[in-house]
Amino acid sequence: NKFSHRIRGEHLFKGNLLHVDMLDNEDEQDFNNMKLKKEDIIVSAYPKSGTTWTEEIVWLINNNGDIEAAKKTPLYMRFPFIEVKQAFSAIRTMPSPRFIKTHLDYPAFSAMYDSNQTDRPKVIYVVRNPKDVAVSFYNFYKMNKNLGSFTGPFSEFLSMFMEGYVVLGDYFKNVLGWYEASIKDDHILLVKYEDLKTSPLEQIKQIAGFLEKDLGDDVLTAICDHVSFANMKANPMVNYEGFPIMDHNISPFMRKGEIGDWKNYFTTEEDAAFMKLYQEKMKDTSLTFAFE
Ligand code: A3P
Repeated sequence: NKFSHRIRGEHLFKGNLLHVDMLDNEDEQDFNNMKLKKEDIIVSAYPKSGTTWTEEIVWLINNNGDIEAAKKTPLYMRFPFIEVKQAFSAIRTMPSPRFIKTHLDYPAFSAMYDSNQTDRPKVIYVVRNPKDVAVSFYNFYKMNKNLGSFTGPFSEFLSMFMEGYVVLGDYFKNVLGWYEASIKDDHILLVKYEDLKTSPLEQIKQIAGFLEKDLGDDVLTAICDHVSFANMKANPMVNYEGFPIMDHNISPFMRKGEIGDWKNYFTTEEDAAFMKLYQEKMKDTSLTFAFE
């Protein structure tokens, strides 16, 4: 392709662009054969959409707000990332309830998930407006060795993002696939980053309701406080501190946590080109975003 940047060991897995540590053709049969269980809880999202934030919320809700327990184990161990080879093996032998993170698109994920199956697990799918996702992803590409420690300007990354040449592939394909699935399937809950940011307690209550956990206002309020941006940024169990492939001196994982940071990156021309693509891609969907 026309871009010179490469991620480490890039390859396709079920149509999703992945890096060196992630599942490949050799794993495909095991992946297709792995059936999810009713007790499994999945957090799915396009990268940089608020996955980590939602995982911590979901884990705490399902563990009755046990913040002390959450502070004992890194989130990536409590909530393994299924398309990473090592995590995939771990998940296969984990006791229930298993918490599973994924960024795969709906067609790929569907190998394990059958929307007609009555004992299917619950999925929380998180979406974030694509302009803030592009900015967050750009900064992540710079600090992440597996993504090739990107050194180019934002304009170059934005072209890659708009063409879907980034790890986990095209934003619109991922988001619209999951969104359409969530409309038809009551086991998939759609959560918007922007709603989580503007009304966190309300969203946390909604997620608790979806997971059929009746926790009481004190517990939900304590969870809400624990997952504020400032608290998560300072929490080594969720902020990826010491994660070998990430250089937080270049850009911290818990970077800014705001709505509308795209305005500090997009030129007027880039915004116009992006919105043209956005209108085309979104013309047949009822999904909408707050961009500020
Ligand atoms: P920014 O780079 O815009 O700051 P993911 O977990 O899907 O990779 O998403 C990472 C993005 O979510 C980063 O966005 C990160 O700062 C943001 N984030 C993580 N925890 C958050 C929180 N508690 N509140 C707001 N944003 C949060």
